[in-house]
Amino acid sequence: MTFDETFDRVKTRSAKWTAMEAAFGLKGDDLLPMWVADMDFRAPDFLHDAARGLAEAGDFGYFNHVDSYFDAVAWWASTRHGWEIDPGWITPTASLGNAIAFAIQTWSKPGDGVAIFTPVYHEFSKKIRRNGRVVTELPLLTEAGRFTLDFDRYEALMCGTEKILLLCAPHNPGGRVWSPDELRAVAEFAERHDLIVISDEVHNDLILPGHSHVPTALAAPGIGARLVTMTSASKTFSIAGTRLGAVTIADARLRDQFAGTVARADLSPNLLGVALSRAAFSPAGAAWVDALMPYLAANFDAFRNGIGAIPGAEVHRLEGTYLAWVDFTGTGMTDAELWARTTGKARVVPSPGPAFGTGGSGGLRFNLGTQRARVDEAVARLTQAFADLQ
Ligand SMILES: Cc1ncc(COP(=O)(O)O)c(C=O)c1O
Repeated sequence: MTFDETFDRVKTRSAKWTAMEAAFGLKGDDLLPMWVADMDFRAPDFLHDAARGLAEAGDFGYFNHVDSYFDAVAWWASTRHGWEIDPGWITPTASLGNAIAFAIQTWSKPGDGVAIFTPVYHEFSKKIRRNGRVVTELPLLTEAGRFTLDFDRYEALMCGTEKILLLCAPHNPGGRVWSPDELRAVAEFAERHDLIVISDEVHNDLILPGHSHVPTALAAPGIGARLVTMTSASKTFSIAGTRLGAVTIADARLRDQFAGTVARADLSPNLLGVALSRAAFSPAGAAWVDALMPYLAANFDAFRNGIGAIPGAEVHRLEGTYLAWVDFTGTGMTDAELWARTTGKARVVPSPGPAFGTGGSGGLRFNLGTQRARVDEAVARLTQAFADLQ
């Protein structure tokens, strides 16, 4: 496996490489995209084999092996996360974005509140608002270059209309891998406010050496009757285009409620998603992730060494994910000026901080799931774009 191999994702029409004009009005072959959360590596052979096997079999009709996907998800949860689940607890969705929207529809009504810890994956608040619910923002603190939870402040920020707490674990952006104690504090908070906890664990496999992810279900077993866990092969293996997610619910009543929403939308898994996720959640997939993480960790080191040298820029310590957060508030620049320097001068395209909600202003999120040469190139260009601060 060589993650250094270049791969032309303009040819494959990847959104990350070809949708910058639509998203930001940015044009030009010299742009270096570091925004959308997928990786620039050519898919590993075991995924090609699965796709080829499907093509060679030549049968794209209705199929009867979704159970094999549930078994693969359960096997992966057990072998990679020490989390024993019954495959019967899983409801499939078309991606985790879809799963989050369904969860909002299942456990809240229009006008109800959904609490999130910000800055967080920008789609959380969009999905809440698109469904006519109200966002309750619970801002994270920054302490010693990483986000932390601030429960003393959160009680006063709750409106009383909240029905759901939407948790990102590990956290995007910034890559905090919440500790079991932090997860237990989140669980206690949810109990105090009688909230359903949606634990979005899509980044659960992308853990940097020296850190470990504990599923919320294991850290806080006491909240089983209010807990919904979302996982997928989409981020770990960069197969988000195949649109498949797994929603694991131990509690039978909650599970029936969620399955009802999925059934009302008449949704069932797609053939390619099942084939690729099953191939991913396998011993070959495990070996690939084990090789990937040290590579991403070295990408982060190269990035932090370079960008951390820009006066006023603080690179958060990445514990999980490949989505590094840089806090530029020390430069005193406005968001517009930061954006102009990164995209205009450096021609590097990160995700803009304000999109992640309160606490996001002054920050930028950089996707390091790419070849080292591209990380080095981004560091060189950004260093140059901020050279006057030296
Ligand atoms: C925390 C989080 N949840 C969900 C998603 C969306 O996942 P999917 O592509 O499976 O909808 C993302 C994508 O970046 C994410 O970061």
